[in-house]
Amino acid sequence: MKFLVLNGPNLNFLGIREPAIYGRETYGDLCRKVETYAREQGVAVEIFQSNHEGALVDKIQEAFGKVDGIVFNPAAYTHTSVALLDALKAVAIPTVEVHLSDVSKREDFRQVSFVRAACFATVCGMGTAGYLKAVDLLLEKLRNEDQN
Ligand code: DQA
Repeated sequence: MKFLVLNGPNLNFLGIREPAIYGRETYGDLCRKVETYAREQGVAVEIFQSNHEGALVDKIQEAFGKVDGIVFNPAAYTHTSVALLDALKAVAIPTVEVHLSDVSKREDFRQVSFVRAACFATVCGMGTAGYLKAVDLLLEKLRNEDQN
């Protein structure tokens, strides 16, 4: 089983950017945590981060036929990107939307998520542990689908 962990703009600045909101763990810490956890669950992960919307669209398209699930934190593009929504719909790979912060308790403009319509679950406000929860949700969904 292979999952793609996809991260949008400014997440490479984790640990530096607004630590009161996003915490002190660095992007490297996040990558190691997700890789280790996934390996323990028998899942291979590819982790990719970009500040560019088109690069994220390209990565989603490349995942078609190669990846069983996507863990996706689109960061600010969550609230703006029809292109990312369309890409997720095009490949139809099971996807979990993840946010480190609890976007539901933040500014009005963060209350809209374009990608959510193409995700079967959303995890918010759990910090980096939310990525591990997303791995669990994907595994649960894929195992259930296998049984049917
Ligand atoms: C974020 C929330 C977004 O609103 C914000 O633009 C981000 C990070 C989160 O992980 O909490 O960059 O996706």
